[in-house]
Amino acid sequence: MQKIILIGYMGVGKTTIAQLLAEKLNWGWVDLDKIIEEKVKLSIREIFEKHGEIYFRKMEHELFKQLVQNDKKIIISTGGGTPCYANNHLLLNGEGIESIYLKASIGTIFDRLKEAKSERPLIANQTEAELKEFIAKNLFDRSYFYIQAAHKVDIDDKNLATVVDEIFDLLH
Ligand code: S3P
Repeated sequence: MQKIILIGYMGVGKTTIAQLLAEKLNWGWVDLDKIIEEKVKLSIREIFEKHGEIYFRKMEHELFKQLVQNDKKIIISTGGGTPCYANNHLLLNGEGIESIYLKASIGTIFDRLKEAKSERPLIANQTEAELKEFIAKNLFDRSYFYIQAAHKVDIDDKNLATVVDEIFDLLH
């Protein structure tokens, strides 16, 4: 096993869980959004504002492909849209790759995102009613891509340590 890739909707905790899993496994960890921000030298919000979403998706695809194809043993936390564009989902199940879908209900996602909208350009300007509607529709559209992961872990009503232990167990 050379790569662990965490996917799932915004707000499910991909970044934090990747970090904790990396400590537990004593592996390296990279966050795709951070890599994009470093490369473009702008925050995700600024990239969307200045260059638009298509530019972001192209960068996301290029940098995700590079990360997946290098030979380092590493955990990758992705952005919520990563597997849903540019055929990135086809990169989830290559040799030596374990992909994990962190699955949450609309209610859990809504509760988390309503407090954390401002840095997320897709939802930053939505009212709570719009946000709930957006999540329901967007999650439905994206589910096809999320279920391409080799494993699925439900995160509703679980603390971080429990989720990390579950991932650890399913990989061993
Ligand atoms: C996005 C999710 C974000 C970030 C960008 C687009 C998406 O990452 O990549 O704002 O399309 O769902 P998080 O899932 O870490 O919020």
